[in-house]
Amino acid sequence: NAPWCFFSTNHGYSVVSEEKSNSTHTHTLSLVIHTKTHVLLTPVPVFCLQISDAHKQRFEVPHEHVKPPATHPSGSRNYVVELTHNPFGLKVRRASTNKVLFDTTMGPLVFADQYLQLSARLPSHNIYGLGEHVHQNYRHDTNWRTWPIFTRDSFPNGGTHNLYGHYPYFLCLEDESGKSFGVFLMNSNAMEVTLQPAPAVTYRTIGGVLDFYILLGDTPEQVVQEFLELIGKPIIPPYWSLGFQLSRWDYGSLDEVKRTVERNRAVDLPYDVQYTDIDYMEDKKDFTYDEVKFKDLPQFADYLHEKGQKYILILDPAIAISKRINGPYEAYDRGTQKNAWVTEADGKTPLVGEVWPGVAVFPDYTNPGCKEWWTDEYIRLSKEIKHDALWIDMNEVSNFVKGSNKGCEDNNLNYPPFTPSVLDGVLYSKTLCMDSKQTWGNHYDVHSLYGYAMVLATKDALERVFEGNRSLILTRSSFPGVGKYSGHWLGDNAANWNDIKWAIPGMLEFGLFGVPYIGADICGFFDDVSEELCRRWMQVGAFYPFSRNHNAQHYKVPVPFLHVPEKPVKFYSDSNTWTVDRQFLWGKHLLITPVLDPGVERIQAYVPDAVWFDYETEVKMTVSKQQVEMYLPADKLGLHIRGGAILPIQRPAVTTVYSRRNPMGLIVALDDKNRAAGELFWDDGDSRGISTKSDRVIHSGYSDPNNLKFENITVLGVSSPPVTVNVTHNNNNVVVPTFKYDTIKDLNLTLGQNYTVRWD
Ligand code: GLC
Repeated sequence: NAPWCFFSTNHGYSVVSEEKSNSTHTHTLSLVIHTKTHVLLTPVPVFCLQISDAHKQRFEVPHEHVKPPATHPSGSRNYVVELTHNPFGLKVRRASTNKVLFDTTMGPLVFADQYLQLSARLPSHNIYGLGEHVHQNYRHDTNWRTWPIFTRDSFPNGGTHNLYGHYPYFLCLEDESGKSFGVFLMNSNAMEVTLQPAPAVTYRTIGGVLDFYILLGDTPEQVVQEFLELIGKPIIPPYWSLGFQLSRWDYGSLDEVKRTVERNRAVDLPYDVQYTDIDYMEDKKDFTYDEVKFKDLPQFADYLHEKGQKYILILDPAIAISKRINGPYEAYDRGTQKNAWVTEADGKTPLVGEVWPGVAVFPDYTNPGCKEWWTDEYIRLSKEIKHDALWIDMNEVSNFVKGSNKGCEDNNLNYPPFTPSVLDGVLYSKTLCMDSKQTWGNHYDVHSLYGYAMVLATKDALERVFEGNRSLILTRSSFPGVGKYSGHWLGDNAANWNDIKWAIPGMLEFGLFGVPYIGADICGFFDDVSEELCRRWMQVGAFYPFSRNHNAQHYKVPVPFLHVPEKPVKFYSDSNTWTVDRQFLWGKHLLITPVLDPGVERIQAYVPDAVWFDYETEVKMTVSKQQVEMYLPADKLGLHIRGGAILPIQRPAVTTVYSRRNPMGLIVALDDKNRAAGELFWDDGDSRGISTKSDRVIHSGYSDPNNLKFENITVLGVSSPPVTVNVTHNNNNVVVPTFKYDTIKDLNLTLGQNYTVRWD
């Protein structure tokens, strides 16, 4: 049922020459223009295919991390490539199964200056990824669905339009064996990707080159690992950033922020981080603060630190051109001296648009002079206002007028012959003119890299300010590779039951994209939230890796609640799990089943094939590999531990600064063979560079200043209580613990030492 225009018959190339070496094949294709296909036969497991123009340099993404992997002898490759000469096409097979994974012979290649199309037949409908969009189902619908990809400031309100990030990447799970592969098209131009019932995929991009990376794995998890190797492994966030965070746009004054902090402290809300949004600034100007309403902001961090809390503030890209209340706006003046701004097509005149602070220019973070300016301004700000981390926003890049204050000229960058199905149908809508200039190239080519470049500039700036400490960046716009330096939130959602739902597939996708520090605005950004929705959202939000309640100007402040309490496809051999996206796993061992509908206390939930224990009641589930009804009244969310896991626990406190000093314990959940294993990663939670220490074997020089102890061990799934329990350290008995049915208490085991606990 292909629409008539999809696979034209009068296009395509033939291979006219072929050069082979052991590691690469280069083919020259011929039709209207000469196109060079560069097939890099790499080691296991990445296959690179680049189709570019043999006669003309075209735009290529200047990625900071992605490098074609080193080559290996053909014997060790886990894929086989077959070339069809006329018309040109490629088939990539998995060597071990002979399965065809990516077959471009299904339709012709089209390679014009501003229109590049390639299609490939895929082996299954289990396709996950492509972004950034809202879609209620994690597994994609392959019935002719077209997804535009081009960074855009827009609301994730259920539409299928393009959003903040640019991810031409998907993972395909081949079958129950778990064998999977990832396909990354490293191309930053505006594009659309159509998923088809064949099953197949068609890419239509309007610039750059076709630079494909196909990653083969034995499991979905392995593909994720390979993708992370390729684009850069994600940050280890500071320990405190795993705690609960509170934010609001427009508290209006520091007094109001402090009242909020006090109100929540008074009810012992577990709460690590407080934010201030653009209202802390003087007239929303970056690098300033409102010296009347936020008079004591410079010391606000001290006030929070006293109680173990942290402070994060926001910066946006757009820099106002107007003066400050009492004099020049020096950040703007210094940037102008450094030629830091994106320019109009002439390469000289700064492009002028409008964002929160009014009429503004836009830093070109791809320009080294601009990066120096940004670092310098950030160091100045940090000397003035103490804070712990940075939130960067509006970097798609967002502009409230179309293109510029002068509009955009009529040329083939602003009005290309073909425009992918982006929101509004115009590329410069809510952003800059496509013919504006940056150091990396025309905005047409680098638009979707704006947030990425801002993150690279910002991490340099943060490294100067926080030196040996991790700190944190949160960015709204992203491109593959930002996870190496930054986390992300899913943007301006709203307080409704749809948005609590799609946040789950949204977060799961960012796990695939290499940004595991991810969350959605808990309780919704826009609109007044009901008590019930906010309560359910706080329950599930406690398990968001980035757990922040943030809401917009003019809406009711969501009240604090006292009952506050990783990821991709894991049970791949069970096809029932391929479409589950109302529940998720936290690591391998915690199954989270939230309530995502109003007025509901009983839900149907899927229990994957394993032994499971209710976290609260410790009761073992009697069934698995089927749907069950869970009773989840107002104050409950489904939380189950998988048999086979040993999980460390720690006595809670209202901030992680305090909780991480508290004694620990272990929950040992036995599997059906009465076995369990686990690991603990523990370091100081703040410094850069990794120091690890495990509760058993591995040490690397980190010694915890709080002399952490393990106090108790609970064993779930024992058939009879122990008669004796005995604990030894270097063959000596160290303690005589007390025990009661399944729990051993009053242990005093030091973190990082080896112990043997015997239970007879
Ligand atoms: C954008 C952000 C939102 C923020 C607001 C004001 O809409 O996505 O989180 O509160 O700008 O800065």
